[in-house]
Amino acid sequence: MSEIKSVGVIGAGTMGNGIAQVFAASGYSVKLHDASAAAIDRARATIDKSLGKFVEKGKLAAADKDAAIGRLSGAPTLDDLAGVDYVVEAIFENAEVKRALFSKLDALTQPHVLLTSNTSSISITTLGAATKRPDKVLGMHFMNPVPLMTLVELIRGQATSDTSMNVASDLAKALGKTPVEAADYPGFIANRILMPMINEAIFAVMEGVGTPEAIDTVMKLGMNHPMGPLTLADFIGLDVCLAILDVLHTGLGDPKYRACPLLRRMVAAGHLGRKSGRGFYTY
Ligand code: CAA
Repeated sequence: MSEIKSVGVIGAGTMGNGIAQVFAASGYSVKLHDASAAAIDRARATIDKSLGKFVEKGKLAAADKDAAIGRLSGAPTLDDLAGVDYVVEAIFENAEVKRALFSKLDALTQPHVLLTSNTSSISITTLGAATKRPDKVLGMHFMNPVPLMTLVELIRGQATSDTSMNVASDLAKALGKTPVEAADYPGFIANRILMPMINEAIFAVMEGVGTPEAIDTVMKLGMNHPMGPLTLADFIGLDVCLAILDVLHTGLGDPKYRACPLLRRMVAAGHLGRKSGRGFYTY
C-alpha cells in the first residue's frame, strides 16, 4: 500500500472524474484516461469547480487545490497507464467491454498491480477471469457524488486474495472513505437494497399511490433521507437504475426485482432524469 504512488483512472465521466479528484486531493499522482479527449477536458473543469467549492468553504487551502490539480494528468491512450501502481476502471456498464479492457490492462500493467472496477453491478469474478491475476482484481464501488460520499463498497471476487482486499481497504481509508466489504452477488450490498426501494417508489407513482413530490416528501421528512427516491433516481439516471434492476432480476432470478413498466417506458422515451433534463422532475 505504501508503494502505491500513482493511480490510473479509466473513464472521465461523473464517477471517473470524482474518483480522480479524491485520489489527487489525497496526494496520489493520477493519470485519467478516456477514449474522448473532450471528456478529459470536461473532467478537469468539473474537478476544478468541485475543489473550488471546498476552498470556498474553508475545507481546503487554495495551495492544496493547486497541488491536487498539479498531480492530475490526462492520459490520451491506455498505454499511458503502463507504469501506474493501481488502477480504477470507471467506464460505462457493459460487461463485454469491461472484460476486454481488463484483459488489455493485464497485459499492459506490472503484474503486481491491483486492477479494480467501480462497477455498480457487473460480476467482479468475470472481470477477474479475463485476466491472469484474478487474485488482484476487485470491486471498488464509489458513490455519487464521490467527493462528498464517504462509503466505498469493496467487492471480493471468487478469486480475490485477502492481501488485495486489505490493500484496497487501506487505500480507501487513505482517501478519507469508509470501506465496507461485499460479496460478489448481483448488485452487491448498495444496489441490492437501494434499487428495490427506488423501483417500489416508481410502482407507487404508476399506481397513483402518491405524486412524485408526495413520495419524495414522505421519505425525506418521514425517514430523514437526504433526497427522496425519485429525486435520487433522476440523479443516478433512470437508464442506470433500469440496467441495475435488470442485472438483479437476471442474476438473482426473483420476480421481486422486475423493473417497473413505468421506469422502462420513461427510459424508452429518453426521459433519463437530470442528465436529459427530464425524469420524474423537469430540470
Ligand atoms: N463537489 C463539491 N461540493 C459539492 C459537490 C461536489 N461534487 N456536489 C455538491 N456539493 C456541495 C454543494 O455545492 C452544496 O454546497 P453549499 O451547501 O455550499 O450550497 C453542498 O454540497 C450540498 O449540496 P446541495 O445543497 O446541492 O444539496 P444537499 O444538501 O441535498 O446535498 C447530496 C447533496 C450530498 C448529494 C445529498 O443530497 C445526498 O447525500 N444525496 C444522496 C446521494 C446518494 O444517495 N448517493 C448515492 C447514489 S447511488 C450510487 O452512487 C451508486 C450506484 O451504483 C447507483
